[in-house]
Amino acid sequence: MQKILFVCLGNICRSPLAEGIMLHLKNKHNLNVEIDSAGTAGYHIGEAPDKRTIANAKKNGVDLSLLRARQFEKGDLDVFDKIYVMDHSNLRNVLALAKDQKQKEKVSLFLNAVYPGKDLEIPDPYYGTEQSFEDVFQLVYKACETFSQQFKSTV
Ligand code: 4NP
Repeated sequence: MQKILFVCLGNICRSPLAEGIMLHLKNKHNLNVEIDSAGTAGYHIGEAPDKRTIANAKKNGVDLSLLRARQFEKGDLDVFDKIYVMDHSNLRNVLALAKDQKQKEKVSLFLNAVYPGKDLEIPDPYYGTEQSFEDVFQLVYKACETFSQQFKSTV
């Protein structure tokens, strides 16, 4: 079973959203994956996702309320097969903890898995408006759907 970790900064907006959507799609598409998420920073350890992220996801049929934030740790690079980061800053922070080339190759921008070579980021909605949360939901949902279809055809 593939183990996939989604990583953002706080682990309360973007990466728990990706985790929750992928758990939702895992059931829908019967995917043989294990999913988790983490943040490069430790500001929100133990907290549920941001209230705005939870409310927006709920409106779109995805329950995030049981997820809890944790900080990314070096050992995650041993445990997970793939580590998908949300932006370039997360990418730098995670790569800085990789001990060798094999670990570095596990790490990539999530949107590059879906739109290869474009180096697109998932924008941080934390300082944004309600619309920012909806836009991020739609972007992440579409990426996760495409990812799930690709995943099904490779395993
Ligand atoms: P996330 O968003 O990285 O998508 O979880 C953020 C959440 C909290 C903070 C920054 C980004 N913060 O500075 O507390």
